[in-house]
Amino acid sequence: LSQSLVLGIETSCDDTGAAIVDSKGNIIGEALHSQLQTHLEMGGIIPPIARDLHIENISRIVETALQNADLEIKDLSAIAATVKPGMPLSLLVGTHFAKQLCKKSNIPFIPIHHMEAHALTARMVEKVDFPFLVLLASGGHCLLAVANKIDEFLLLGESIDNAPGEVLDKVARRLKLRNLPAFSTLSGGKAIEELAKQGDATAFEFGNQPMYKYNDCSFSFSGLRAKIHRHVEREEKNHNVEADQVLPSAANLCASFQHALFGHICRRLQRGMLYVDMKQMIPEGARKLVVSGGVACNSHFRKYLSIVCAEMGYTLVCPPPKLCTDNGIMIAWNGMEKWTAGVGVAKDIDAIDIEPK
Ligand code: KG4
Ligand code: ZN
Repeated sequence: LSQSLVLGIETSCDDTGAAIVDSKGNIIGEALHSQLQTHLEMGGIIPPIARDLHIENISRIVETALQNADLEIKDLSAIAATVKPGMPLSLLVGTHFAKQLCKKSNIPFIPIHHMEAHALTARMVEKVDFPFLVLLASGGHCLLAVANKIDEFLLLGESIDNAPGEVLDKVARRLKLRNLPAFSTLSGGKAIEELAKQGDATAFEFGNQPMYKYNDCSFSFSGLRAKIHRHVEREEKNHNVEADQVLPSAANLCASFQHALFGHICRRLQRGMLYVDMKQMIPEGARKLVVSGGVACNSHFRKYLSIVCAEMGYTLVCPPPKLCTDNGIMIAWNGMEKWTAGVGVAKDIDAIDIEPK
């Protein structure tokens, strides 16, 4: 085999993912086990349960990806795995598994930063040259950065408190959306997106924009979260609903909340774009915004983003939803980019450790 092939392994949160990609960005094999249903039943991610599920599934997922690809470990150029950031117990499973495979078969190991992998996935699908602006919105993060090189990112701003996906998940739980049969298996963000389609986004007010006094690109979601909870409490009093019943105003609450949340992200994004412009960080005419992370699957959010991009002279690049949520493909691709550029290969596999923060 003359073609380079990299296996990527992801276990930073609640998805056990593995995939093999080639240097052109073709996905040769892939497998994914999502723990979503378990966590929905438990009312959230419980770290030791997430770890146990990763342990239970990892060898099967890696084997399936290799079988899909009709490959054996010895055919691989390198193995990449997420070592940061993430939940420590979860990160350990994939990192340990990958290191063992590398040592056993004498294959190079490439440690991967989960957020950098999200940021670079778009380059697997279409031509996106450095430097570009990247917005990541997921269950664990919200951040805006300039991607300058494969391994060089300039952070412009991040959330000072909660992550947007985390808040969407909590609101969906508070609204008991799982009790609606059509939404019972969806992530919180997806359930809110679907129900919001039947709602009025102007029905509930969320007051001042978070952080409007701060001249930076940070994000904040805790204020919006407190406001939606107050709205829900008031609505529950007004409507006198049964314990497991969904509020009649749930669709309006979802639509209004989504509008406020995405509006906030877009305002901070716009500030970031003005800053990039002022500092001439990205040449005019070549400005691209790449979005990723689970929240970037939201079609309503994508519409808002396309408006901001049109106004600010950016081309919007959205990878397909499957590549926005956590998966092994993005880890394999980041590994491949590093392998091709000759950067980031571990010199001493034993010295590699996880870095949860
Ligand atoms: O990137 P991801 O798969 O995992 C993390 O690294 O966090 O993102 C998961 C998050 C969850 O909070 C989920 O509710 C949210 O992404 N999400 C969405 C949508 N699909 C998933 N949020 C809004 N709209 C969606 N369609
Ligand atoms: Zn992620």
